[in-house]
Amino acid sequence: MSAGIKKIAVAIVLAVAAWFGSGALGFPHVFQAMFVAYVALGLVVFLLLDAPPMKRLSGWTAVPALVGFYLVLSAIYIGGASSLPQYDPEIEKGKIEKVLKRRRALVMAEQGQVDALLERVKVLQDGSQTVMARLGRFAPAAAVTEAPEEQGALTVVERGAEVYDLYECYNCHKIGGKGSVKKRGPILDNIGSFLTVNDIKRKIFDPTYLYAEGFEKEHKKGRMPDKYKDLMTEEEVTTLATYLSTLKDPTAETPKPVFVKANVEHGFTVFGYVRDASGRALPGTEVHAMPQVKGGHGASGKTNEAGYYEIFLHMHNENAGATVEVSAQGVKKTFVADYDPSDTITRRQQSLDLTVAAPKG
Ligand code: HEC
Repeated sequence: MSAGIKKIAVAIVLAVAAWFGSGALGFPHVFQAMFVAYVALGLVVFLLLDAPPMKRLSGWTAVPALVGFYLVLSAIYIGGASSLPQYDPEIEKGKIEKVLKRRRALVMAEQGQVDALLERVKVLQDGSQTVMARLGRFAPAAAVTEAPEEQGALTVVERGAEVYDLYECYNCHKIGGKGSVKKRGPILDNIGSFLTVNDIKRKIFDPTYLYAEGFEKEHKKGRMPDKYKDLMTEEEVTTLATYLSTLKDPTAETPKPVFVKANVEHGFTVFGYVRDASGRALPGTEVHAMPQVKGGHGASGKTNEAGYYEIFLHMHNENAGATVEVSAQGVKKTFVADYDPSDTITRRQQSLDLTVAAPKG
């Protein structure tokens, strides 16, 4: 028996080493548990080596034993496998197809626009004003940018719910009691009572923007992924935010959002979209913002794939009420930054979209 105890001791040491070793290497907990399980399995095998030999079965008496052994093993495998999260490859494939279909359609639409632009350039070279007037009449036809085809099939809210599904927000959030097996993120059933469409958009594109009360730890650890601004089109984030803003169930335990206070007193954020006259997003466009005050510090930013930009301006309490000028490709707009200097909680920000000429070429 002492041999058995020795083996158990070795197994415990190995299990601890496997857990912390794999943890140090950055393996997720599931894998750590799996390595420990392997050690346990090894222990069982070694303990079995010490077990007294069984009576040898032969002839027909061996058949029920064999079948029984097979059934036990099958039960363990099937039970174990079905306790793990299930993925249906067909459903996953369907999701990918849905995302890609829209992307493809967008690219095609842009391709079409580029062709249309080239044609326009050709015609413009003729320099005829009458042609230009005619082009003006054609312009609306080129304005079909986002969400082509099957647009009529879904309402904005339905499409938003689909986007929620496609980007698998349900892995961490619950709506209508569905999703987030473990409590990873807040229930969203009442989020529409707290946040505007714009705030939700900002939270999705910048998870540091605000946090759900009671989720300070998760927020600090950056649990909500910071990848959506690189993945989502503007249509997707807008319909998603619109859908979420309709969720107003006061009985749901949606935690209140807390706007991040950091730097509120030193900064002002300008954000928005840059598009061309036909409404197409312009990625990679330089945007500049400048407070019109003595010694004011300007700042710049570039639009992302969705044409979205965000600029953090250094503005202090005494700059409240200052005019700020925002410009991109020579197009200028101004707004008044009227925040309450005594409010140190609410983020100081302004949404401002710009419409500029499409880049040449
Ligand atoms: C990996 C987990 C995870 C995923 C995936 C995730 N979130 Fe979150 N989300 C969180 C956590 C944790 C919080 C709470 C901490 C915080 O606010 O940063 C949160 C907070 C939020 C809030 C604020 C809720 C409140 O009550 O104030 C909104 C809105 C939100 N998420 C929307 C989304 C949307 C939309 C998606 C999908 C595009 C998404 N989240 C995907 C983990 C996640």
